Amino acid sequence: MSKSILITGGAGFIGSHVVQLFVEKYPSYKIVNLDALTYAGNLENLKAVENASNYYFEKVDIQDALELEKVFEKHAITDVIHLAAESHVDRSISDPLAFVKTNVFGTVNLLNAAKKAWEGELDQHLFYHVSTDEVYGSLHDGGYFVETTPYDPQSPYSASKAASDHFVRAYANTYKMKTVVSNCSNNYGPNHFPEKLIPLCINNIKNMKPLPVYGKGENVRDWLFVKDHARAIDTVFHQGKSGETYNIGGFNEWKNIDIVRLLCKKMDEKLGREEGTSEKLITFVKDRAGHDLRYAIDSSKIKNELGWEPSLQFDEGIDITIDWYLANEEWLDHVTSGAYQDYYQQHYH
Ligand code: NAD
Ligand code: TYD
Repeated sequence: MSKSILITGGAGFIGSHVVQLFVEKYPSYKIVNLDALTYAGNLENLKAVENASNYYFEKVDIQDALELEKVFEKHAITDVIHLAAESHVDRSISDPLAFVKTNVFGTVNLLNAAKKAWEGELDQHLFYHVSTDEVYGSLHDGGYFVETTPYDPQSPYSASKAASDHFVRAYANTYKMKTVVSNCSNNYGPNHFPEKLIPLCINNIKNMKPLPVYGKGENVRDWLFVKDHARAIDTVFHQGKSGETYNIGGFNEWKNIDIVRLLCKKMDEKLGREEGTSEKLITFVKDRAGHDLRYAIDSSKIKNELGWEPSLQFDEGIDITIDWYLANEEWLDHVTSGAYQDYYQQHYH
């Protein structure tokens, strides 16, 4: 049977790379990108595939159950890759309910739409839920998150993602729906909305604006290039075992302050600035409430069982990322105009 895959959140950061990979690599699949186009969704991210004959776009909010049903019917959806979410921890601190609405209620709506469309043949269709390592909580004494690490979410964002993961597994257990979940570490790369650490710093360094480092900058994250995550999603979608969870990570831990210094150094070189110019922009600001200290993923399972591992070294990935932002001024201008300025003022001033 030919596949008609519904990819939710395809106009966002990671989703746009997943959509592009699937549209280009699998011309026989029909790829339906469903996205509400919130502040984080941007169809400019999909220019490379917007005219492809196997690509379709539906502007739908996953909170709208009726519209979801219509999309399943209209496109005879065979499988789902679910990425649509509210994704920024800081926004979840100021507006937790928005995260419950999209990440929890929206995910259950989508599960219901899939269940209804696939009734009687639930074992023949895959519901793939894309999640985060943040559901495992915060590491304080070394060690890594593995697939069996108990959930211990600490922010409204991670709590909402944890709830959605639990619902997906509950549908697998209760209704025998074929599901798979993957939990990935922090991504970076092109199309990343400049409210997150790396693109925010690149944008601010470019514009000689302060670089807000929360607390002492000692928090640690494990960074993975977004196209490697998209490749992992392709691997899990095609080879993952039903009911399983796969952790995806870069084995690439960095303290925030070290990343910010690296970006300063590289951008001074690329912009022909005197060494040390951009570092002067580093500004230590009030710490994030309940700030998780360290995330670190053990991705041995996906490596050993499915043969996936990151393809890019961080140094290479960061160069590609900075070069992309410097070459795509128009993209940056578009996403940082209007509502972004209000968010920035509210959050940082
Ligand atoms: P993003 O914020 O860049 O994009 C989210 C997309 O979802 C946007 O296009 C937005 O318009 C859409 N969306 C939001 N609410 C919606 C709704 N109610 N209905 C339909 N569409 C809606 O997020 P991202 O960073 O690309 O993350 C994608 C997924 O991957 C999320 O589920 C996130 O939890 C997960 N994840 C992200 C990271 C990361 O580092 N960014 C790491 C691990 C997992
Ligand atoms: P972020 O990119 O928001 O991802 P997450 O919180 O999901 O890991 O933040 C990455 C790290 O950078 C996190 O420890 C918070 C920190 N941070 C800052 O120090 N300053 C900032 O302006 C932002 C957005 C994040």
